[in-house]
Amino acid sequence: MSLYGRVARPALFRLRGGDAEAAHELTVRWLGRSAPALARIRPLSPPGAARTVFGVRFPNPVGLAAGMDKDGRALPAWPALGFGFVEVGTVTRHPQHGNDRPRLFRLADSAAIVNRMGFNNDGAHALAARLAALGPLRVPLGISLGKSRATPLDEAVEDYVASLRALRPYGDYFAVNVSSPNTPGLRTLQDRDQLDVLLPALRAEAPDKPMLVKVAPDLSDLALGEVLEVCTSHGVSGIIATNTTLSRDGVAPGDAAAAAQAGGLSGAPLTERAYEVVRFVAAESGLPVIGVGGVMSTADARRLVDAGASLVQLYTGFVYGGPGLVRACVRALSADRPAPTRVEE
Ligand SMILES: Cc1cc2nc3c(=O)[nH]c(=O)nc-3n(C[C@H](O)[C@H](O)[C@H](O)COP(=O)(O)O)c2cc1C
Repeated sequence: MSLYGRVARPALFRLRGGDAEAAHELTVRWLGRSAPALARIRPLSPPGAARTVFGVRFPNPVGLAAGMDKDGRALPAWPALGFGFVEVGTVTRHPQHGNDRPRLFRLADSAAIVNRMGFNNDGAHALAARLAALGPLRVPLGISLGKSRATPLDEAVEDYVASLRALRPYGDYFAVNVSSPNTPGLRTLQDRDQLDVLLPALRAEAPDKPMLVKVAPDLSDLALGEVLEVCTSHGVSGIIATNTTLSRDGVAPGDAAAAAQAGGLSGAPLTERAYEVVRFVAAESGLPVIGVGGVMSTADARRLVDAGASLVQLYTGFVYGGPGLVRACVRALSADRPAPTRVEE
């Protein structure tokens, strides 16, 4: 087992009686403090790892998923851990606290997480100031945009556009998050009529930047097909599939209490559904896909790529597997490597 699995993970999981958010905050704070030293480490890019997707050059195809470093507090640290790109956010126009704690739950028997964070973040302008002070990152930066909770749904477009206006200079791509289950009504923005207004407004604000749409795993094929049609017709550059799920399928009996919490489920129980959605989206749309959801092993990452993903992202896999899993995925997805087996290093 890796040093992370033997030492760091058990210590983090025990922190403050198992308070998952405290462990998360400590990790990001520690990485933030270490960032200046870590920033000198060159991005991981073994032969065959680099690729160009929607016009952006990635040193490797394994990214940090949105939500881990919402406010960009530890940005230079992530490439040092092996990530080939980082998605910050989801950020909203207005700073907000998110839902009340506790709002983050580990399901250890299931290698999963349930969260209802609710877009806690410092707001788009604070992120813009932080990114301006930091200067360019050594890997591509994605910025995920969401709707402020206080903004009514019928004013959502202006809310997203205002965030994009503030952050446009800093993102290599932008992700339109219309799929988080934790902001009331947000997922209705996946409806054709809503996207038909939102997407052109965002494209007009930043025509030079790749714009991706992140979808929920809970959409039917019919609904997904509609989303893809609208995305294609408005020149969207790619799809991020998927966000967390409302389903509790695949959760181990020992995790029943945490699974009963409201929020989105991520990690191993999501692996299969994320795979299906990636395969569907890639086949139906022909658009580049960032595959995310339940990548817990190199085999899971490889499967998403085989299903049509150009890039993959991890959140929960990183919590359970640490940086060793990130680096193993990078090696597994480098072109000169044979397809991996299920066995982890
Ligand atoms: C605690 C937590 C917070 C998250 N916050 C966001 C977010 O702000 N925006 C977003 O698009 N996705 C968010 N996600 C979803 C992840 O980016 C990812 O799509 C999902 O967890 C599935 O990947 P995984 O199984 O590797 O975790 C969050 C996930 C978790 C566990």
